[in-house]
Amino acid sequence: MYDKVYLRKVFEKMRTQNIQPVTNPDQIRALIAHEKSVGAYRPIGWSSYAAPLKPNAISNESLVLHCTKCNNNTSGIYEVADVIRRCPACRSLLMYCPACKSCASATEKFSVISCDRCSADFVTNTTVEYLASRDRASREIVLSGIRAIGELHLGNLFGAVQQFVEYEHGDNFCMYFIADWHTLTTLRDPRKVALNSLAIATDYLAAGLNPERSVIYSQSSVPEIAELALYLSMVQPKLQLEHLPTVKDLAKDKHSTMYMGHLHYPLLMAADILGPKATLVPVGYDQAPNVELAMSLADKFNRQFGTTFVTPKMSLNKVVPGLAGGKMGKSNEDSSVLLSDTLDQISEKYLRYGITDKRRSTRSAPGNPSQCVSVYPMYEALLEKRPEEIKIVETECREGSRGCRECKLQLSREIDALLQPFRERRAELSEKQKYVEEVLHYGGLKAREIIQHTLWEVRERLGILSH
Ligand code: TRP
Repeated sequence: MYDKVYLRKVFEKMRTQNIQPVTNPDQIRALIAHEKSVGAYRPIGWSSYAAPLKPNAISNESLVLHCTKCNNNTSGIYEVADVIRRCPACRSLLMYCPACKSCASATEKFSVISCDRCSADFVTNTTVEYLASRDRASREIVLSGIRAIGELHLGNLFGAVQQFVEYEHGDNFCMYFIADWHTLTTLRDPRKVALNSLAIATDYLAAGLNPERSVIYSQSSVPEIAELALYLSMVQPKLQLEHLPTVKDLAKDKHSTMYMGHLHYPLLMAADILGPKATLVPVGYDQAPNVELAMSLADKFNRQFGTTFVTPKMSLNKVVPGLAGGKMGKSNEDSSVLLSDTLDQISEKYLRYGITDKRRSTRSAPGNPSQCVSVYPMYEALLEKRPEEIKIVETECREGSRGCRECKLQLSREIDALLQPFRERRAELSEKQKYVEEVLHYGGLKAREIIQHTLWEVRERLGILSH
């Protein structure tokens, strides 16, 4: 499936790390033959006396694998393609584990294989796919993250996360994370940081992201990101950081202290992006200056130390209007619809805070949708794919046959209906927090292995040799 260039890279990694699972029968046979020739194995064959926890071996020609789950030895059957690597008795995955040097049963989760005997994890398949994507110009490596500062709102879902799902459905390699380190600039309550992080992962999944297809992880699972941010700080002039709009706003605010973490924020973000060599970064427009900084850092580093990083493209998220106009944001709860809001709560918010055409005097006076501050624009954002329905709202408003109150209530029902499937999946997932934690655990392993590839290069470029 993969051409030689990719495989060469993977094998190069196998060589340098010297630890890799082998699940292909031919390779297992070759390995065991080698191990046997150096005296590592005791042949036991297909027999009842096979000791379960001893390394297993081969009987003459055919390969014997031992399933550590059900204690069965088995042979030959691995030649049949569709039962390859499976124990015919308990169906568990079998592999040769180079960490504990045995043929053992393994557990496969989110395409990570873990040895049941010694718990070593192997992420190879995802890394191979990632490397393959990197070499194919048409396949984007999409990367984005959300800070864990609070509950997600409609703007996050329709503006960002739904696009994440669309990218995942396309021919892309997608990585979505929870920016938990970035959260620490605003949130100091450890319980909240932890809970919000899990909540965002749950929302990602409820919105339809598939952990078998996308790498979903916490930023903090990958210490290499912090290391990379440190290296990037060596090529980043401080003055440029001080001119960034977010930093400037903070400097103007006499009541808040500017921490190093604030100044360092864009560098950490650049490390998030450059670490996996992302080619496409979807963000809200307020984050655009930070992504531009990452682009310029990639160029600076490449010029000084030789081409290492990829300069990403940026894609701006759709703007979802807040209730009081402007962009729906986390900072103002009255201006945003939370994903957990019920129909009553949504209606109440719209009736109270939604702003329509201010010049319309009575219910039956003709309105002007282009003057409507937050209700009509929301129809436009939500019903993008159903233009006929937007047209009806527009016509009825212009004719004066639809009052603003009615219009707000209908919009609330529309939002509620769109949120319903999300809420159902959210409720299901909140019963399965262990599953969500597993997604983050395995996603973290995958992200780490991917980002390590870049770090090996960067350290070499800088003369940092890991002895
Ligand atoms: N700073 C972003 C925000 O507040 C979150 C983020 C952190 C991010 N690292 C990123 C987004 C990398 C895109 C790419 O929304």
